[in-house]
Amino acid sequence: LNFCTPKKRHEIIEILLQGLRRMEYRGYDSAGIAIDSSNDVKHPFEEISVLRKVGKVDALEAYIHERDDIDSNMMYQFHCGIAHTRWATHGSPNDVNSHPHRSSDSNDFVVVHNGIITNYREIKEYLQKKGYSFESETDTEVIAKLIHHIHERYPNFGFRQLVETTIQQLEGAFALAFKSRLFPNQLVASRRGSPLLVGIKSASRLSTDDHLTVNFSTARNVLSSYCGEESFCDSPTTSDVFNISLANMSLTSSVASPSRIDKNLREGTRGIRPFDSSKNFEAEYFFASDASAIIEHTKQVLYLEDDDVAVVERGLLSIHRIKRHDDPSSQTREVQQLNMELQQIMRGDFKTFMQKEIFEQPESVINTMRGRVLPDGRVVLGGIKEYLKDIKRCRRLILVACGTSYNSAIACRQVMEELTELPVVLELASDFLDRETPIFRDDVCFFISQSGETADTLNALRYCKPRGALLIGVTNTVGSSICRESHCGIHINAGPEIGVASTKAYTSQIISVIMFALTVGDDRISLRERRIDIINELGKISNHIQTVLELDDEVKLIAKQVYQEKSLLVMGRGYNFATCLEGALKIKELSYMHCEGIMSGELKHGPLAMVDENLSIVMVICSDHVYKKSLNALQQVLARKGRPIIIADENVPTKDLDGIQHILRVPKTVDCLQNILTVIPLQLLSYHIAELNGLNVDRPRNLAKSVTVE
Ligand code: G6P
Repeated sequence: LNFCTPKKRHEIIEILLQGLRRMEYRGYDSAGIAIDSSNDVKHPFEEISVLRKVGKVDALEAYIHERDDIDSNMMYQFHCGIAHTRWATHGSPNDVNSHPHRSSDSNDFVVVHNGIITNYREIKEYLQKKGYSFESETDTEVIAKLIHHIHERYPNFGFRQLVETTIQQLEGAFALAFKSRLFPNQLVASRRGSPLLVGIKSASRLSTDDHLTVNFSTARNVLSSYCGEESFCDSPTTSDVFNISLANMSLTSSVASPSRIDKNLREGTRGIRPFDSSKNFEAEYFFASDASAIIEHTKQVLYLEDDDVAVVERGLLSIHRIKRHDDPSSQTREVQQLNMELQQIMRGDFKTFMQKEIFEQPESVINTMRGRVLPDGRVVLGGIKEYLKDIKRCRRLILVACGTSYNSAIACRQVMEELTELPVVLELASDFLDRETPIFRDDVCFFISQSGETADTLNALRYCKPRGALLIGVTNTVGSSICRESHCGIHINAGPEIGVASTKAYTSQIISVIMFALTVGDDRISLRERRIDIINELGKISNHIQTVLELDDEVKLIAKQVYQEKSLLVMGRGYNFATCLEGALKIKELSYMHCEGIMSGELKHGPLAMVDENLSIVMVICSDHVYKKSLNALQQVLARKGRPIIIADENVPTKDLDGIQHILRVPKTVDCLQNILTVIPLQLLSYHIAELNGLNVDRPRNLAKSVTVE
């Protein structure tokens, strides 16, 4: 912040806390801030305080207010503060795992991070060898220590160069904001994969035509000098460096000439000066993962692109890149005027969280696989690695869950049996407890739960524990009870799910369990081809999901035909039986309509009696090993004058679906992943039916997101 009018420290804290409250919907297990905290007026930036608290933002606020020395009337003309609200991916929610993370007790460098660093173990080992010790279990702490290490090696580097060098070492996804006691009044931020925007609050309104022009120049990459034998980076030896600058109320660009850049880099100075420092642009800058955090301060925003490095120094913003030859980034960053209200921003362009979460699936499945499905064809699950020997020797695999999580277990059962060659038993948690099911020391029990808190699933875990079985948690909530009480586990990393009806967690659960099966079956030569096939298709699944989501308008038309029906049947078999159960559950939950998922092999044993020209039916038919049987079921339905809506993959011949009015075509993938693609039209259908009936999509009546009572 470069304040138009000086601000007191407690006002700055309030701005940060308010921003965090707005972001709480993205995750809310702990929060923290870093601010300048020296009370010496002559040296106001000599100390940084890092304050972190497990729990909601309110808990952090209370903690700050207990500290009179922090919550003071000390005045600032300039100030840079960073804050974070966390949804854990590595390490349970507690004070030390909260952000900001720091390089040392003296808080020389502090950083907040949204995303996942997949090579953090390698970096951590490297830094430990250099004498660094770590206070948290997070992936983020390595970033704070790494920048410190680079600073020690290259004391002449400016803050931006240090960040540029640091991010060259990182794999995975990140949005980062750095603050340093050694570079007062500067903020450096960068992103790759995770969103990051800059809100600009200026005295004059920027016009919608304003944009920042990117200037290119070629320079030797100073970073290459870091890539000695002991580093793990693979940085290019030459690169283009360009920058954007924002100066004096109007958006203009100025860049040092290439010769100047070369000179700076050769001399190891603080690099290019991207702006004319004689001009003073008075603005406050707000960096945030999304606009909800900043909308009450400004509606002027600039979205950063992957690998942009943004710097605010003495009230001026500049954006820099180390440009690679295949870098497709545009040459401008436009200032956009937001016309949205807060609620809309939190949900993006979507009307509800559920809709947003359905449409997030192309990214959430990638986050589930990130750092686990490796380019060399291996699948590595860090959370269970040490237990693999025991797992391979076990008597049976037992999958315990409720609701949607149980349906994900059904979806994976067949491929699990195939790849692990072990018996796979499925258990609804409540029934498992009711039956007091026998459990043995050599059983491996999975507890699949989005929240990690569902009482029945948790009680089932507690039932199994004294019986000596190996307990594996599969959850979306790091630090949840199931995470804490299991021996090991897989975090599905789908990101917070707000809509009560689970959608993106379901598809990520399926992928997580399939990754498990691939890991266990990795030494069987006979399964080699099959594994390669599945791994290849996992690589394409995000694009396929994107294609399925384009069916939305078609699904909405179908919803308009069926939304007033009393009853709906969803039929299928094989890998797609889970889709029928999960699709029917979604429709029940959201629209309160009677809806049943039916194994089409059972059709002639009862359900066929209900079929006539008036009953609404959805049938899932895919070109897999049960294709002929699925067609038989279709013929039986048609013979009773049924008029089914068909979900089929693109390889199902049109002649086999002759006379069907509605066919929703999804891309063809390997059989065991096909149910990820067939369930999405049903997620969309349930959403539209509920909407057409004017129902609350995110909070259906009588249901809770997390059921913590039996
Ligand atoms: C509740 C929710 C469902 C969820 C089920 C299991 O019933 O409404 O959406 O599938 O609990 O929840 P879990 O958090 O254990 O996956």
